[in-house]
Amino acid sequence: MTTAPAIAIDGPAASGKSTVAKRIAQELGFTFINTGAMYRAVTWYCLQQGIDPNDSNAVTAALPNIPLSFGRDGAMSCVLCEGRILGRELSETATNNNVSAIAAIPEVRELLVNRQRQYNETEAVVMEGRDIGTVVFPNSPYKYFVTASEEVRTARRAAEGINDSIAERDRKDSSRACAPLTQAADALLVDSSDMSIDEVVALIVADIHSKSN
Ligand code: DC
Repeated sequence: MTTAPAIAIDGPAASGKSTVAKRIAQELGFTFINTGAMYRAVTWYCLQQGIDPNDSNAVTAALPNIPLSFGRDGAMSCVLCEGRILGRELSETATNNNVSAIAAIPEVRELLVNRQRQYNETEAVVMEGRDIGTVVFPNSPYKYFVTASEEVRTARRAAEGINDSIAERDRKDSSRACAPLTQAADALLVDSSDMSIDEVVALIVADIHSKSN
C-alpha cells in the first residue's frame, strides 16, 4: 500500500494534458507518467509484427511475449523495446490510427493498468490518460479532467505537424465498453480552450495544495 499521492489527469486527445501534467510534475517534484505512450507502444509493436490491432484474440495471445518494458527516464516514464527507449515511432500515423483499437482490448488494459499502479507503489506520480481518475486511481482526491474545444485541439495537433484524427479517436475512446474516456464524478473540469498552459497549471497546483493542507 502506498501513501504517495497520485495526481490523475484525464481528457480527450490534444487537450494539452501531457504538457500540463509534465509541468505539474516538475513543480511538485513528482514523476510524470504518460499512459498513452504505453498503449501506443503495444500498438506500434503489434503493427511491427504484422498483428492486426482489430484482432483482439491475436493481440491477447501475443501479450505475454511482447518485449516491452515500462521504466523511468529521469523524472518521466518511458517505454523500452528490447532495452531501447521508444520515441518518434509512438506518434507515427499508423500508431495514431490503430491505438484506439488496441486500447479497447480488456487484456491490454489489465496489463497496463497494473503496471501504472506499480509506479505509485514507490513514488508520487502525476499520471495522464483517459481512465486514471475512474479506474487506475479511483480513490485519489486529486482528479482533473482537462479538455478544450475540438477546434482548438485540432489546431494544436496541426501546429505540432502530427497527422492525427482526434475526433475519430475520441469517439472510439469514449464509446468502448472497457474503461471508456469519461470524466470521473469527483474530477475538477478544466476547459483550457481560452487558457494558457501557465494558467491551467496554476489552477491545478492550487487545487492540489488546497486538498493536501
Ligand atoms: O494520450 P494519447 O493521445 O497519447 O493516448 C493514445 C491512445 O491511448 C488514446 O487514443 C486512447 C488510449 N489511452 C487509453 O485508452 N487509456 C489511457 N489511460 C491512455 C491512453
